[in-house]
Amino acid sequence: MIIGVPTEIKDGETRVAMTPNLCHRCVKLGATVLVQKGAGSRAGFLDTEYRRAGAKIVNRADKAWGDANLVVKVKEPQSSEFKYFRPDLTLFTYLHLAAVPKLAAALVEKQVLAIAYESVESRDGYLPLLKPMSHIAGRLSIQTGAYLLQTQNGGSGVLLGGIPGTMPGRVAIVGAGNSGAHACRMAMGMGARVAILDLDASKLEMIDDEYRGGVVTLMANPGNIEMAVQDCDLLIGAVLVPNAKAPTVVTSAMVKAMRPGSVIVDIAIDQGGCVATIEPTSHRNPTYLKHGVLHYAVPNMPALVGRTSTLGLTQATEPYLVHMVSRGIELALQEHDGLAKGINTRAGEVVNAQVAKALGYR
Ligand SMILES: NC(=O)c1ccc[n+]([C@@H]2O[C@H](COP(=O)([O-])OP(=O)(O)OC[C@H]3O[C@@H](n4cnc5c(N)ncnc54)[C@H](O)[C@@H]3O)[C@@H](O)[C@H]2O)c1
Repeated sequence: MIIGVPTEIKDGETRVAMTPNLCHRCVKLGATVLVQKGAGSRAGFLDTEYRRAGAKIVNRADKAWGDANLVVKVKEPQSSEFKYFRPDLTLFTYLHLAAVPKLAAALVEKQVLAIAYESVESRDGYLPLLKPMSHIAGRLSIQTGAYLLQTQNGGSGVLLGGIPGTMPGRVAIVGAGNSGAHACRMAMGMGARVAILDLDASKLEMIDDEYRGGVVTLMANPGNIEMAVQDCDLLIGAVLVPNAKAPTVVTSAMVKAMRPGSVIVDIAIDQGGCVATIEPTSHRNPTYLKHGVLHYAVPNMPALVGRTSTLGLTQATEPYLVHMVSRGIELALQEHDGLAKGINTRAGEVVNAQVAKALGYR
């Protein structure tokens, strides 16, 4: 098996799909690994380390893509990379196809076998390859939100922790899953007053147990969402309906009712976002103002901490990649239901039901 590791080209991306350690493991199992020159540099992994691990360093992207039968990546291919698609290519990466119909069309047209990290399931039905990045995005959402609340950054000038004698900042988090729970942890650590909402009562019970009632937990019905949004300085969007476009849970009217200078960080933007007024932004231009509220919606937040994110991502992808290298891709997919659930496109069709529904495919 020949594995290609191209340099990520999405705006501001710093992660790489393989560490030298993982590369070494794949090489020992018999794979040839082609790493594009400098692919790991923004995560602090040097070409010399990959070479020592047994990889071949290739100078250009077309080599990392074209000479490999399995390409491992972090973010979804950008349109300039569609030219590398071909029927004998297997792609293992985040795809979030419900939000990028053009990419889905290109994968279908070129008959790529595309396995999406975010659709791979563990035996107990969890999403093990989404989880570590959600933890990172959740934690970052509070640190980013706290920074944006500073007056010089266009925010309302609220310090999340406050000081004795003042009201702390108020954080509302919609979605109490992996990213929401970690946002909650950071916000609580900073001393903010936190309200968290979800449709799943068991998630709220877990938060209530963990913080012994210190966090306000609310069922995510429209009335509660409206109240929590109006009352907060920092709103975090953290909902997910797996493989589908994120539901719009915060309306324009709710955003208009927020205090000027309040901040929205919509983590769910990679699935289209869960706030009516949200548009994707980038690391280069991360925010915009709408209805007096600062909006932040970067779809690849973990790139802000490329080293930690690369280590977090690759420790999760490693068992799946090792399985594919050891057994071959077809056998690995037959043997591992959870990995097979990750297949989004194959032989010219969208084969994941929710993705197909979201995009209008059969
Ligand atoms: N922007 C980024 O850089 C980045 C990074 C990682 C993950 N993400 C995204 O963040 C989103 C959340 O991921 P996660 O791992 O936390 O998901 P998760 O499945 O762990 O949690 C999502 C939660 O949303 C809840 N939910 C679903 N519909 C809801 C609704 N209508 N109202 C209220 N709650 C609802 C679910 O019950 C669940 O608890 C995903 O879209 C994921 O792809 C983005």
